[in-house]
Amino acid sequence: MSAGALRVLIPSEQIQQRVRALGEQIDADYPEGPVYMISILKGSFIFLADLARVLKRHSVRIEFMGISSYGQEKTSSGQVKVTRDLDTNIEGHDVLIVEDIIDSGFTLNYLTRLLAQRKPKSLEIVTLLDKPERRVQPVHVKYTGFQIPDEFVVGYGLDYAEDYRNLKDICVLSE
Ligand code: IMP
Ligand code: MG
Repeated sequence: MSAGALRVLIPSEQIQQRVRALGEQIDADYPEGPVYMISILKGSFIFLADLARVLKRHSVRIEFMGISSYGQEKTSSGQVKVTRDLDTNIEGHDVLIVEDIIDSGFTLNYLTRLLAQRKPKSLEIVTLLDKPERRVQPVHVKYTGFQIPDEFVVGYGLDYAEDYRNLKDICVLSE
């Protein structure tokens, strides 16, 4: 059990509807060849699972990468490190980074520079959530599920100190 009050910000049905629309866009934008979907652990695992299943294509590769910049806190330390690297070569492939949320931008600014060095054919980002007000470092995002205000959210994969990831809705967590 965890302390904290939860308020639904984006209900499950609305998330599913938006995920379907993102899937249609992605299917249309990558007419051929495999798309390498790189899920950034752990927060994007539910989004990845839903997004991958709405795609009509079967040429989808699912990869995982671990990045940490937070520890147990609610704000980014700005210190990004790879805790689990890819075990596949992305050179010459269409790569789509699948992220749960963009906040300061430290994580994805670092990650896109790192993956670009590996010479993918294309490199884009799909994020479920974006808090544009919080941006410190620039990030070019091709697909965004929802822009949200500067509030700390949990659920649908997102955690606070590893709790709440299993909520179906995206909720604001307040003390
Ligand atoms: P950034 O490097 O500050 O953009 O942070 C991105 C990462 O911080 C995300 O992948 C999340 O893991 C975490 N994060 C940022 N905002 C929230 C939030 O509101 N709830 C839960 N996790 C968050
Ligand atoms: Mg994350």
